[in-house]
Amino acid sequence: MNAIDKVPDSERYARCIQTSKRVRWDVDDDVIRGRRFDAAHKFLPDGLSLVDAFTSLSADEKRFVSQIQGRTYANVFGLVERFINAKVLELSHDHWFGDQVALEALVRFSDEELKHQALFRRIDAMIGDVLPDGYRFDVDPNAVAHAVLGKSTWAVLALTLDIELFTQLHYRQSIEPDAQLSELFKDVFLYHWKEESQHAILDELEWVRHDADRTVEQRDKAVDEFVELVAAVDGILQSQAQADAGYFAARCGRAVDGAETQAIAAAFLKAYRWQYIHSGAQHPHFGRVLSSLITQDQGRRIQAALATLQ
Ligand SMILES: [Fe+2]
Ligand SMILES: [Fe+2]
Repeated sequence: MNAIDKVPDSERYARCIQTSKRVRWDVDDDVIRGRRFDAAHKFLPDGLSLVDAFTSLSADEKRFVSQIQGRTYANVFGLVERFINAKVLELSHDHWFGDQVALEALVRFSDEELKHQALFRRIDAMIGDVLPDGYRFDVDPNAVAHAVLGKSTWAVLALTLDIELFTQLHYRQSIEPDAQLSELFKDVFLYHWKEESQHAILDELEWVRHDADRTVEQRDKAVDEFVELVAAVDGILQSQAQADAGYFAARCGRAVDGAETQAIAAAFLKAYRWQYIHSGAQHPHFGRVLSSLITQDQGRRIQAALATLQ
């Protein structure tokens, strides 16, 4: 039984399977449906792209920024889902000769993440068809997965729940309500959200289950590893903000001097830290689950680390 939700854990795994079967979708038949992107449309909503921070840009240039960020958004999900899937497959081992319902729920989770990675690779290529050449996303998903999976399972599950909760928050609070977004881009994240909702429930179940067997010392070390993982995410965001600002400056159609390029890079980084770090860290449910597992001192360590990433 989970302390936060009074539904028995076995029932929660079973419900995830039922919902996963009900919402299941196909990349071509349901999401893409023969459509193409149109560079006349905005991709990422203002609430995520923080476009107001790009103070020197025209309206058309801000739309280009939303398209660059939308492409990076698809690439970042493709990246994180590599390590999430590997961790889910590893955790499934705990259920091989135990709860077969939990095992099925994790196998479906893994299958969905493989499909999502394929979807995001398609989306990256399709956005590449309508935007100028020169975009770079040079982070290797396998190298990141190896580094992440070198940390304890507790720390990886903390980061994973954080990510899978902010995915839902982004869709509901920013993507769904924005009437000016590309319909295709919106559908990608509508369908993604439908399957991610089950993943976040499973992350929590697995994290709490795994936490129960940790010693005080193991958990304390894992808190530090979670902070290290967030710092590693920030390192990726810093280099991508520079890459995306350089691409914008090279392809926006006017001269952009070095000082403006740096201001644009700072605005990209602000948006990326909001998207991938702070929106998840501030998610109320993430806070509730995390604080149910850690001490106040450990919570303060995490908050102090997050406060440096402003
Ligand atoms: Fe996913
Ligand atoms: Fe997921």
